[in-house]
Amino acid sequence: MTQIPLIELHLHLEGAAPPDFIRRLAAEKKVDLTGVFDERGSYVYKDFEGFLKVYEAATAVLQTPEDYARLTSEVLERSRDHGAIYTEAFLSPDFCGGRDIAAWRDYAAAMQEAAQGVDGIEMRGIITCIRHLGPDKARETAICAAETAGDFITGFGIAGNETVLEPQDFAWAFDCAREAGLGLTAHAGEFRGADSVRAALDDLRVSRIGHGVRAIEDLALVDRLAEDGIVLEVCPGSNVALRVYAKLGAHPIEKLRERGVKVTVSTDDPPFFHTDLMAEYDALDAAFGWDDEMIRQVNRTAAEAAFCDDATRAALLKRLE
Ligand code: ADE
Ligand code: ZN
Repeated sequence: MTQIPLIELHLHLEGAAPPDFIRRLAAEKKVDLTGVFDERGSYVYKDFEGFLKVYEAATAVLQTPEDYARLTSEVLERSRDHGAIYTEAFLSPDFCGGRDIAAWRDYAAAMQEAAQGVDGIEMRGIITCIRHLGPDKARETAICAAETAGDFITGFGIAGNETVLEPQDFAWAFDCAREAGLGLTAHAGEFRGADSVRAALDDLRVSRIGHGVRAIEDLALVDRLAEDGIVLEVCPGSNVALRVYAKLGAHPIEKLRERGVKVTVSTDDPPFFHTDLMAEYDALDAAFGWDDEMIRQVNRTAAEAAFCDDATRAALLKRLE
């Protein structure tokens, strides 16, 4: 088990909610969560679309800024206990106040205050629009992001069902976020292939790609990623759990890295995939022989690509020396 301080760039806040936490809140609020958990109490789903449905159903218990403050504290404490010193969490105005800007401000403030109350780990928020909700809602989400851009909200992205719509449908939202000075990332190359990654780069002009692993299906694209220094937020355990790859040994992270692509490692939605950040590195060591020097190098890449201010970045790099 590595002792190196870890940096996570890709974690969905709601997707990191422990099942016990969601069950406790559901009992308090008398929300029916039939179909969300199996008999052992784990989240239950069959495939990617089923996963997205269960994720959204569980999120229905999170109803107030106070609920999100509690979730933030819980998630950060767990991440820290699994070795993380810095995490970027995807936050969704779709769930937090229905994209109403005044309501969203209250949610963002509650999460920021909760994050500042957890010692030993720093957090920044990446506002994410949800692809299958469509471009109109994404525009409203981007406006929420632009209105709250600052020292806590530092990025903008897109998640959700990659198999519907196209990156170009979301170009306005990304332009809006870029003008607000936010760092940009897009989920692509998870449930679609290389064309989807290429479209995210061309039409959304992102510096990072969430997943991006299926770029491996087109080596010219892999070389472009390497040459342009595009950073991949790779989530190996998520890809295996959602059956993008049958097993970690078949995952392309090591091939991408060897060909010069900047790869980083994250957990995506850890309780859904029965993983945590340290477990990801342990598995990468077992599958590909990633020693501590490799882990240090990957986390240096993550620090360099983080959507944070220069002083924070310098502090993270120093911790990694
Ligand atoms: N939202 C939460 N996890 C996701 C994933 N792995 N892909 C797309 N959208 C998501
Ligand atoms: Zn994700």
